[in-house]
Amino acid sequence: MSISSLIQTPSAPAIPTGTFTRSLVNRSVATAREVLDALKVTLPSHAYWSPENWEQADQTMDEVRDVMLGWDVTDFGSGRFRQIGRMLFTLRNGKARDMRYPKPYAEKLLIEPEGQRSPMHYHRSKREDIINRGGGNVIIILHPVDADGLPARGTMTAQVDGVRRDLHAGDPIRLQPGESLSIPPKTFHQFWAEEGTGVRVGSERYTLSGEISSICDDWTDNVFIDEWACRFPPITEDEPRTCYLCHEYPGERK
Ligand SMILES: [Fe+2]
Repeated sequence: MSISSLIQTPSAPAIPTGTFTRSLVNRSVATAREVLDALKVTLPSHAYWSPENWEQADQTMDEVRDVMLGWDVTDFGSGRFRQIGRMLFTLRNGKARDMRYPKPYAEKLLIEPEGQRSPMHYHRSKREDIINRGGGNVIIILHPVDADGLPARGTMTAQVDGVRRDLHAGDPIRLQPGESLSIPPKTFHQFWAEEGTGVRVGSERYTLSGEISSICDDWTDNVFIDEWACRFPPITEDEPRTCYLCHEYPGERK
């Protein structure tokens, strides 16, 4: 695998519209549940709630809604969910400057079909550990941020389960199940499930990653090199939702 083939450069927008649909979101959540079942991972009960459950929820669910726990499916505005997208579940989080939610940490699960990536990005303040929780291998590439805000080349270090690795920016780092990599803020990163290594569920192979980090504010903390990329793209409503995503919960507090 050549390094140059792994480095992503900013791409032209040309975003197809209308391809990120509710039916795709519904299918993705159903698939994510199947993958988690296959890997014997059980989620909190609200992960299985219907829209009606959320519409009748009282203030006991405020934290879940306010720190955006729950399902998170996005194509980042790519129009190519299968290549550039993510299926996640946020298990815990805090909220900066809100004393009701003082946790300084966050945790997510990422359900990764082989061939799917997020866009290359860095975080303004979030420090995250990416943990391979099982399925297959995870490949990660890192770059420092250069003076123009783009991925830099050169040498750098990374911490894999506390062990220092000296590497060149863009070198693929392979995490086997059980291994983890620490990604400091202001470090470009992209990671994905290594082809041919994941657990088969239906017609696809999947790997499960975990993310343990400082507080995650996905509205403000992500910087993408692609100008078209966004964290919560609009969803075309082509069928009724089967669940609410973490940024969609009905606002009324009973
Ligand atoms: Fe990230």
